[in-house]
Amino acid sequence: MKINPVRGTHDFFGEEIKKFNKVITEVKEVAKRFAFNELSTPIFESSELFKKPLGDHSDVVLKEMYTFNDRNKDEITLRPEYTTPMIRAAISNGFLNNLPAKFFGTGQMFRRERPQKGRYRQFNQINFENFGSNDYFADIEIICLANILLKKLIPDSLITLHINSLGTKENLSDYKKVLSNFFTDNQKYLSKESINKIHTNPLRILDSKNAEDNEIIKKSPKIIDFISKTDLNNYKEIKKSLTDLEIPFFENLNLVRGLDYYCHTVFEFKTNQLGSQDTLIGGGRYDGLIKMLGGKDIPGVGWAGGIERIILLMKKIIQKNSEVHLAILNSNYKNHAIKIYDFLINNNFSVFWNYKYNLKKSLSLANEKNAKYLVIVGENEKINNNFTIKNLSNGDQISLNIDNILDYLK
Ligand code: HAM
Repeated sequence: MKINPVRGTHDFFGEEIKKFNKVITEVKEVAKRFAFNELSTPIFESSELFKKPLGDHSDVVLKEMYTFNDRNKDEITLRPEYTTPMIRAAISNGFLNNLPAKFFGTGQMFRRERPQKGRYRQFNQINFENFGSNDYFADIEIICLANILLKKLIPDSLITLHINSLGTKENLSDYKKVLSNFFTDNQKYLSKESINKIHTNPLRILDSKNAEDNEIIKKSPKIIDFISKTDLNNYKEIKKSLTDLEIPFFENLNLVRGLDYYCHTVFEFKTNQLGSQDTLIGGGRYDGLIKMLGGKDIPGVGWAGGIERIILLMKKIIQKNSEVHLAILNSNYKNHAIKIYDFLINNNFSVFWNYKYNLKKSLSLANEKNAKYLVIVGENEKINNNFTIKNLSNGDQISLNIDNILDYLK
């Protein structure tokens, strides 16, 4: 019986897992610098946590959630995103009593989308959230954090930051009506897929990937013309600060984001290297969401990044797999080899025992694994109670007893 992986899932190994681990290490490092605390939430939650906040008409809710009833008929959903679970956890654990509260987390998300390059049904997200601050510096801080993280992982030349402002929820609701009317009047220029969204989710037409829609989208009303003077000023300050921080950005007047909870600043770090799945990181403000989920009426701002997409753009990681490779010439010398094996491991060396008991095979494996040293254990070593160390970068070879080995290897 051959069982294949479920469509849209994938196994991580080799180069990919090295890159994955590097992403996690850098995320933790950057989080520490910006003083965000780690928060890990369950992979499944009550379905109601996602339905309303993500939008009754959003694709995520309509088509993509893995929802099921467990044995006592509770409706459960595998988390499709991390913002709502983080808010739920912050409320459940009383973290919102001390504001601002800054959290980050990484983990698997689940969306039943059509799989393609950079798009999976189970994928990993990095998530940063800042709860409780209206200060526009919170927006700058979170964008700056994303920028620093991406720079550590991929060349800047591959990424562009897109930003826009959506104003308040009220502005957005007025804008949606105007947009809906505009697209109704111009339906003949729209793709079938976009026509279906005119009355349910007209904002999503703006980021349609369908070439047919492009011309009419260019002529559509822009949200920026609907937002108040104060919001416009805040938005100007954000752009000014990004310029001061030398973070290049592109003002994308059609950027609206795919989930319903956004308002004010929205942003995406995009690349032109991945075809249609071109957003590495997406986020923005979500005033009102925390209250909707039963918390205080406080604002929030954050982002999520797709680890699989980031990995696709990372360079190969050159890593020494094993510092020391053991070449045991014959299985009779195993007991002598165990002494050096145990000694090196206890002194924090990485040691590879290859089960070959053959010099030639051990040498070629050691080279394949990029080992720094080969420790040879044979007849002479056993008789003299020492070990022969071969430096694989310059070929030098020396026999030493165990007490002198550390000095040589360091
Ligand atoms: P999102 O735009 O739905 O936002 O997802 C964020 C990122 O997750 C995307 O830019 C992409 O890199 C990755 N991603 C999404 N779907 C997939 C998939 N099927 N396969 C691989 N990667 C994927 C959110 O999830 C919001 N919660 C972001 C946020 C946090 N907003 C405020 N705080």
